[in-house]
Amino acid sequence: HTETDDFVIDDTIIANIFKPRSDFSHKGTYGKVTIAAGSYGKIGAAVLSTKSALKTGAGLTFTLAPNCGYEILQTSCPEAMFIKGGENYIEHFDIEKDTVAGIGPGLGTDPETQKAFLKFLKEYSKPLVLDADALNSIALNESNLKLIPENSIITPHPKEFERLFGKSEDSYQRLDLAKSKAKELRIYIVLKDHHTQVITPEGKVYYNITGNSGLAKGGSGDILTGILTSLAAQQYSEEQAAILGIWLHGRAADFAAEKHSRESMLPTDVINELGNVFKLLE
Ligand code: APR
Ligand code: MG
Repeated sequence: HTETDDFVIDDTIIANIFKPRSDFSHKGTYGKVTIAAGSYGKIGAAVLSTKSALKTGAGLTFTLAPNCGYEILQTSCPEAMFIKGGENYIEHFDIEKDTVAGIGPGLGTDPETQKAFLKFLKEYSKPLVLDADALNSIALNESNLKLIPENSIITPHPKEFERLFGKSEDSYQRLDLAKSKAKELRIYIVLKDHHTQVITPEGKVYYNITGNSGLAKGGSGDILTGILTSLAAQQYSEEQAAILGIWLHGRAADFAAEKHSRESMLPTDVINELGNVFKLLE
């Protein structure tokens, strides 16, 4: 591999990707998102990923969550519509064909949920954003990997990456493994770390240098899923969504750290800084 396949995500790359909103647009211009997330005791994951999808600009946002999340989601995210997921998503894993779906935060590892998700995955072929327990369900069996639709974005942290693809000696070996898997499966791998990397189906690597240790808290990953899904539903390709999304996530976290400190900043504060990051880009 040549050095030219590796890029640091800088302001120029971001300025070239970012598309300002047109005056002559309507909600249909900015796509539909479905966030499938949350389980009893982890409805917060659904709230965080839904809120971040909304604050990243999608035209319409739906949240598929277990029935126990109904009132919580309708209250905390009134702009989003709720889709009943039954007790454990058993009744349906209903994702409309005209939406872009982000699946996984706080989904839980109930066997019924895993079964319902894997059944859905067998029948679905549009690119998805897959995170957390969606990835843990896929990791149950190596043969599930080929069910991931081409051009999907997966967002494993190092432990989830290991469950999916096996152990690596160090981060260099892990990156090599990620390159070969991204090429083989024709997917985007967002390898989450201090410096998160996006690996493309061509084996290109984009390094992110925004973000800080204030993100080392439960819920930070859930927000990234919402951001990526929202961008992929808008006028961005999966590659553009992945690159712009991790940069936005980190930049918003840097603003949140300035205001609140790395200790006290919460994922909710990161969501609330997204607007200031978009203002930088406009
Ligand atoms: N510097 C920069 N970025 C960081 C740092 C750091 N020191 N620590 C974490 N981050 C970023 C990561 O790059 C990633 O984008 O914060 C995010 C953390 O994502 P996750 O590891 O998925 O964390 P979390 O939101 O807690 O996940 C919640 O989902 O993945 C499961 O098992 C996980 O139960 C947990 C749940
Ligand atoms: Mg996570």
